[in-house]
Amino acid sequence: MLKPKKIIHLTDLHLGYEDDKIKCAVTLERVKTWIMTNCTPRSDYVIVITGDLIDNANVQAQWNLSASFIQQLSESGPTGDKYEVLVIPGNHDYGTGSNADPKFVPVFKQQYFNNPNFEYPRVKIVGNGTTHEKVAFIGLDSNEDELNPSDHRLADGEIGERQLGELENALRRNDVKACAYRVVYLHHHPFESPIFKFGHWLKDRGELKDVLYDAADEGIKVDALLFGHNHGGKPKHNKWHISRVYDGGVTGGKRKPSFIRIIEDLSDPDVDKDKVVQFTDGTHS
Ligand SMILES: [Fe+2]
Ligand SMILES: [Fe+2]
Repeated sequence: MLKPKKIIHLTDLHLGYEDDKIKCAVTLERVKTWIMTNCTPRSDYVIVITGDLIDNANVQAQWNLSASFIQQLSESGPTGDKYEVLVIPGNHDYGTGSNADPKFVPVFKQQYFNNPNFEYPRVKIVGNGTTHEKVAFIGLDSNEDELNPSDHRLADGEIGERQLGELENALRRNDVKACAYRVVYLHHHPFESPIFKFGHWLKDRGELKDVLYDAADEGIKVDALLFGHNHGGKPKHNKWHISRVYDGGVTGGKRKPSFIRIIEDLSDPDVDKDKVVQFTDGTHS
């Protein structure tokens, strides 16, 4: 039976972050080497990176570190096979982490999409229906409406009406509906408590839920929801009619354990078959 490509979820790389215990770039070097050694052929995999690729967008060296990391992951393997690498921004990609700065939005788009005027959501259909089942990946910028200086607050996220409307449209596109599976990915954690995580939650998570519920009511199923931001890493399966709901933790290992999660087979309802590979325990790199 035709299978979808396997999904490697990375998040919160925080390239450039270092203290006396953790150097995220060192941890990420190990992660990258492990992936390239163990995840072959590369054409069987999609790597989804849900934001905070760097730690501080004001530091050009961190953009360079991230460009190099993505470029190496995107290179061809020994037989010309390549990973599909998908990225979206986190709050640290637009500044220091608090009060994201709009001037970095076109910088991010230029670096990763080669188009400073690109508009989210980012829709990418992966798989040609002949060698791999088609999957529609829909990436959101969960900072977009939080960039408004009149109501921005610390590391909160807000997707905004414009982008949510475009998400509604994207889910109803004929080519997206024709896919066997759909995956939505964003940076901010949509199930975080506004009380316990003040300044770190997704303000319009209720509106996002409505969009996904309405689509589900029309039979447009989302099969996985991937995100990061809180550096936690606990799955939240079966929320909002979505069977796979993954907080990817903090792959760079900033103050917490570094691990990656691999969805080996999106068509398998048994989430226990998804794989976790641990790289640090949170105390050293
Ligand atoms: Fe982060
Ligand atoms: Fe974040």
